[in-house]
Amino acid sequence: MISTIAWKDNSVVMIDQRKLPLEEEYVVCKDYKRVIWAIKELVIRGAPAIGIAAAMGLALGALEIRTSRSDSFCKEFDTICHEMASARPTAINLFWAIDRMKRLVSNSKGEDVKTIKALLVSEAQKILAEDISVNRRLGNIGQKLLKDGACVLTHCNAGALATGGYGTALGVIRAAVENGKKISVFADETRPFLQGARLTAWELKQASIPVTLITDSMAGHFMQRGRIEAVIVGADRITVNGDVANKIGTYMIAVLASIHRIPFYVAAPISTIDCSLESGDKIPIEERDRSEVTHILGKQIAPNEIMVENPAFDVTPNQYVTAIITEKGIATPPFKESLARLEEE
Ligand code: MRU
Repeated sequence: MISTIAWKDNSVVMIDQRKLPLEEEYVVCKDYKRVIWAIKELVIRGAPAIGIAAAMGLALGALEIRTSRSDSFCKEFDTICHEMASARPTAINLFWAIDRMKRLVSNSKGEDVKTIKALLVSEAQKILAEDISVNRRLGNIGQKLLKDGACVLTHCNAGALATGGYGTALGVIRAAVENGKKISVFADETRPFLQGARLTAWELKQASIPVTLITDSMAGHFMQRGRIEAVIVGADRITVNGDVANKIGTYMIAVLASIHRIPFYVAAPISTIDCSLESGDKIPIEERDRSEVTHILGKQIAPNEIMVENPAFDVTPNQYVTAIITEKGIATPPFKESLARLEEE
């Protein structure tokens, strides 16, 4: 199994996802600022993986605090949390992980600073371990939706690389294969950062799951020809009504799937649900650097000074979502009720 991120000798080690699949290099972060840099630069990406990185980054930050007075420690830790929250805006998992680490500190008020630091380090590792087991549970629940022999389309990378391991959307596919089903995958390349071509294709090849790479513009063609039985994607944030923010291009695929009567599944842990937002129009959408659009792998492909927009995510309205697969069960429309029921369990 690919190791996306690990805590090792008081540092955070991550596989450099900017370099895959051509080079397998690791980035070692010895301080929290380096972790923030790694999240911003997409060394590590994918909503759950960002959350784990943030938690580990905060554990590093806690170790960097010099004071032994717990009130000053809490103040400094708060500032680090604030900085961490600025790393990327869309994936809720970042804020979920920060809140969890903050809660631990406020629940440990009577403890000395050394103990709080140790608790934070073990909490970050716990978040990683929990993520892997959540993905396995979610995968097992979701695989029941896939028929033997199905060809599944996925977009971006919602695999082991986007999580602590195993994956969400790719976790469902892995679990179906582990249950003896023959599954093949179409992977959209996912411009501009090419998570599909570089990461999903690499990950599925490693797992010996048959994968065919297509450009984003080919999805409709293959749906029309009856070559795709289901779509499965991950999510960066799901609102109370079941609207789903995910990698740019997801909305287009969901609409196409609906027109072709192909089920469109979203696989995500319960922690991806943002209970504070009623609908997707309130989700902050990250705008990334223009060079991701004007260049491919460092090579300019567009005229100088061309106008560019580069939203990293889009929002798929709930009407196009067939089901949301979580570790607690499968939610179906109306999502407001079904998601609330799963959350309560
Ligand atoms: O910009 P990225 O690569 O962080 O975007 C990732 C996605 O959109 C994934 O589909 C999503 O985070 C789900 S990962 C299990």
